Amino acid sequence: MIDFKELIKKAINARNYAYIPYSNFAVGAALLTESGKIYDGSNIENASFTPTNCAERTAVFKAVSEGERKFKAIAVVGGKANESISEYITPCGVCRQVLAEFCDENFIIISAKNEDDYKIYTLKDLFPGSFSKESVL
Ligand code: THU
Repeated sequence: MIDFKELIKKAINARNYAYIPYSNFAVGAALLTESGKIYDGSNIENASFTPTNCAERTAVFKAVSEGERKFKAIAVVGGKANESISEYITPCGVCRQVLAEFCDENFIIISAKNEDDYKIYTLKDLFPGSFSKESVL
């Protein structure tokens, strides 16, 4: 059983570390590995804009760089810094592509406003017909 509330709590906490001088839009993510570990991440912006890294990719890259490659779920929260979260956000297209590299279609994406108010999707829901490594390998 996946503890959705714990993942959301970690994503909310990760939001505090967002580096967002340009958008002031703070995002936090918490990624659950199949081995039961949780890697969190926040968005990291850049004056050149393009190098900006979303919270979801920060979490994935932290995990993969520590040897993790199998994932069960990710929780995502986002909104203007210093305001309560008023919308459900889902990973951007680039993050969906990165998730698809490591996660199967049943991977769970939790889009939350808070620990008690969230929506559940699968990667298949959000990223159907994706380009996959099977085409390249
Ligand atoms: N952002 C994320 O971190 N994750 C998303 O799913 C959507 C967008 C970030 C990128 C940028 O720093 C800010 O939110 C505004 O787009």
